[in-house]
Amino acid sequence: MARRPVIAGNWKMYKLLGEAVETALALKPLVANANHCEIVIAPVYTALKTVADRLEGSNIKVAAQNCSTETKFSARTGEISADMIKDVGCAHVIIGHSERRQFFGETDESVNQKTKAALHSGLTAIVCVGETLDERESGNAEQIVKSQLVNGTDGLTVSDMERIIIAYEPVWAIGTGKTATPEQAQEMHGFIRQIIAEAHSEETAKNIRILYGGSVKPENINDLMNESDIDGALVGGASLEAESFAKIVNYR
Ligand code: PGA
Repeated sequence: MARRPVIAGNWKMYKLLGEAVETALALKPLVANANHCEIVIAPVYTALKTVADRLEGSNIKVAAQNCSTETKFSARTGEISADMIKDVGCAHVIIGHSERRQFFGETDESVNQKTKAALHSGLTAIVCVGETLDERESGNAEQIVKSQLVNGTDGLTVSDMERIIIAYEPVWAIGTGKTATPEQAQEMHGFIRQIIAEAHSEETAKNIRILYGGSVKPENINDLMNESDIDGALVGGASLEAESFAKIVNYR
């Protein structure tokens, strides 16, 4: 079965509620005919319910940008569980984004717990991996990505892996305007598929979607999507405007 591409927009900590709704509603008609891929947008928590309600019945799904490791109601001030995210109409959650690893102490272990929590609630988890510039320059990129992947997906069953999407986002390409070349991205995506085959199964590796993220724009999406192991994109900056995100969705 061919892997269905996914184009996901990560709105990070941008947009008040009104702006989030406005962008979502502007996007809707621009991508209404995009049947070739799954479309996901990830607004801030406080906009999730309203945006999900306003997009109901459309081909755009809504994701949260993080979730708690805890699955039960519990005394965890400031946290939001995967069940709560599901409850407001989300289908996906982004887990282990490099900004969470860098600024909020996210570890491979918490990524693993959050991924399990997300799957337990029936969400699809978009699990992010990627090396820093130092790690790439010192020749450790593959080793870092491998340990993030293996530890982040540890203990997941075959059916769990069917509800996971991997996003490869080299940290040096995020928000910097420096995209990995399609060849660099393809090389790492091929490596990721190989690691998943070893850690899980050939079948899982063949079916899993691997998105590229890091300065994806309307100008570079086609070349990236032409690579055999790139199954979509996780887009930051260029997803904030409906027009540019729609151009990425409507690549080719
Ligand atoms: P960018 O961000 O597209 O602005 O580089 C990507 C991301 O952080 O997911």
